[in-house]
Amino acid sequence: MSETAEATATADNKNADEHGAQTGPVFSVRNLWKVFGPKADRVPGDPGVTGLSQAELREKTGCTAAVRDVSFDVHKGEVFVVMGLSGSGKSTLVRCLTRLIEPTAGTLEFNGEDVISMGKDALRRLRRHRASMVFQNFGLLPHRSVLDNVAYGLEIQGVAKAERRERAAEMVAKVGLEGLGDRRPGQLSGGQQQRVGLARALAVDPEVLLFDEPFSALDPLIRRDMQEEVIRLHREEGRTMVFITHDLSEALRLGDRIALMRDGEVVQLGTPEEIVANPADDYVRDFVRDVPREQVISVRRAMRKAEATEQETGAALAPDTLVADAIETVARSGESCRVVENGRTIGVVDDARLLSVVAGLDTAQDDGDGEPKEVAAV
Ligand SMILES: Nc1ncnc2c1ncn2[C@@H]1O[C@H](COP(=O)(O)OP(=O)(O)OP(=O)(O)O)[C@@H](O)[C@H]1O
Ligand SMILES: [Mg+2]
Repeated sequence: MSETAEATATADNKNADEHGAQTGPVFSVRNLWKVFGPKADRVPGDPGVTGLSQAELREKTGCTAAVRDVSFDVHKGEVFVVMGLSGSGKSTLVRCLTRLIEPTAGTLEFNGEDVISMGKDALRRLRRHRASMVFQNFGLLPHRSVLDNVAYGLEIQGVAKAERRERAAEMVAKVGLEGLGDRRPGQLSGGQQQRVGLARALAVDPEVLLFDEPFSALDPLIRRDMQEEVIRLHREEGRTMVFITHDLSEALRLGDRIALMRDGEVVQLGTPEEIVANPADDYVRDFVRDVPREQVISVRRAMRKAEATEQETGAALAPDTLVADAIETVARSGESCRVVENGRTIGVVDDARLLSVVAGLDTAQDDGDGEPKEVAAV
């Protein structure tokens, strides 16, 4: 695609509803593998070994399958979180997206363009202009000022000095570091340094930001601050983000959707609510055991069918109201509440339904009225 056609496609994609046909995912990943070890490329296609556990695979072939047959799309404007324990393959997966690590097998598209067949120049453009990475160790240049660090990506792009300093100053202000532009990284706190890293990634105005556990070295309060910053930037700019973390509360706070990895595989992909309310297996159930369910699950999932007499009575709640908020409304009014969508009562929540969510009793199961539970679209 030429630069102009590319720019047009990107502009069109921002109008997803009017231009449905042109709107594809930002990243589209199918059956992706990354295998480390001898004769790694033989592993993905060998049915004799693809089903083995990591330990068995290592014993039989000497290889580690860091990413195993993974498929997903990253939609425009979403925060896509990759979560999993240490060693589950998160960093390998995200580095494969721009081929900082070369995938062993599978297909990979960025805005419909085949990334696997990209040559050196196209790849460089992808990494420098279109998909910026924010690393955990910030990667700041110690002898340069904050402003010059932020301008660095633009310098690599060949942007003229005056323009890059102007853009850099704008980004420094955007991440809340006004007045600190002349300092060196060593004169900043950890949180401030991470903001510089963020500003540098933003300065090149990439279509997607890739974060590899950017905040895990920060203390909890500063970390919370940086999460708020990411949420704010996302709200203001609608930029697509792929965010890696091993911290469940961070994943739930930031993610529109979460891909949960174990041993290189994605064991569940869904909204935070889907994952908490409906864990795919015991591993995921264990992972989300301590999550305050009422702060993640909505009344759409908690409601029961409305009796004929309940169609018009009781306070009205929107379907995405969190159970925690519904509890307050029900407690105050002393009666059940209606769940109303487009002016129509679609269900009812009463104290028994709400308590069963908190207790983790039945949100994943049939609600006994003979109709399937409503499930939010993925
Ligand atoms: N260059 C390599 N050679 C061999 N094995 C590797 C290599 N890089 C990663 N691995 C293995 O691949 C698996 C996934 O590693 P990866 O770094 O992607 O995990 P991660 O989920 O990012 O972990 P962490 O949370 O600790 O950063 C691990 O078992 C790791 O030992
Ligand atoms: Mg990692």
